[in-house]
Amino acid sequence: MLKGKTVLITGATAGIGKACAFKFAESGCNVIITGRRLDRLETLEAKIKTDYGVKVYPVLLDVRDRKAVKECLEFLPNDFSHIDILVNNAGLGRGLEPLYVGDEDGWDEMIDTNFKGLLYVSKAVSKIMINQKGGHIINIGSIAGREVYPNGNVYCATKFAVSAITKALRVELLSEKIRVSTVDPGMVETEFSEVRFYGDKEKAKNVYKGMQPLTPEDIADTVLFVANRPPHVNINEIVIMPTAQASTAHLVRD
Ligand SMILES: NC(=O)c1ccc[n+]([C@@H]2O[C@H](COP(=O)([O-])OP(=O)(O)OC[C@H]3O[C@@H](n4cnc5c(N)ncnc54)[C@H](OP(=O)(O)O)[C@@H]3O)[C@@H](O)[C@H]2O)c1
Repeated sequence: MLKGKTVLITGATAGIGKACAFKFAESGCNVIITGRRLDRLETLEAKIKTDYGVKVYPVLLDVRDRKAVKECLEFLPNDFSHIDILVNNAGLGRGLEPLYVGDEDGWDEMIDTNFKGLLYVSKAVSKIMINQKGGHIINIGSIAGREVYPNGNVYCATKFAVSAITKALRVELLSEKIRVSTVDPGMVETEFSEVRFYGDKEKAKNVYKGMQPLTPEDIADTVLFVANRPPHVNINEIVIMPTAQASTAHLVRD
């Protein structure tokens, strides 16, 4: 059912986005891969083309750049101008400390990327999907958008915002036959913690110490499941956690 579809994935240069790019390509989809690191986009493009023989359109894109997002989506090459599925994945955490000592630049980065970036991309892609009379928007939310955890403050707030926008889009795009879903993971081992701790690899590794986190492929499998339902079925939301995790506050380590 997915073969031949076109999928736009934001933040495809690492982690969950990259795993989604591979899984969709493996299913015969053509993929638009975006991110801010050109070398990674080029490597990914080459590997996907060689391994799966599908069409790939790499776009160097910072989702915080409102003008760039608009232009990129207005002037897509013909082969990619019909977007069947959008995976709104680009996002990051910055810092893990109480709000009163939080870094305002980190807050801006999270709000501008996780929330405003998702808004810019969703607006432009919604217009395309309305014109083509259908499509599917899949947001990568988080359990952080369902329960706040200590020192998660602004990151959690951006994911609560994603949850609100997911619900708003589902209502607003109902008459346009556009499906809107969210996949909300618990702990997934990606570059997320390294980015959150500004490159501190040791600190990042400790996050997953003594427990088995989810893999990016676990999330990509879930996204594919959501995308691959029959046209009359919309999975509104999926929460997925490692077996070792029950909530943002409950985790067992060996
Ligand atoms: N890891 C977890 O435990 C977890 C749990 C729940 C939800 N999530 C969510 O999953 C999503 C993916 O995170 P991940 O865990 O896969 O982290 P990751 O490995 O660090 O990947 C993040 C991706 O987002 C891209 N990105 C970041 N800022 C961007 C920007 N301004 N413009 C465009 N792309 C940008 C990065 O690409 P460039 O740096 O090349 O731009 C990268 O491809 C995020 O929305 C995150 O909040 C993660």
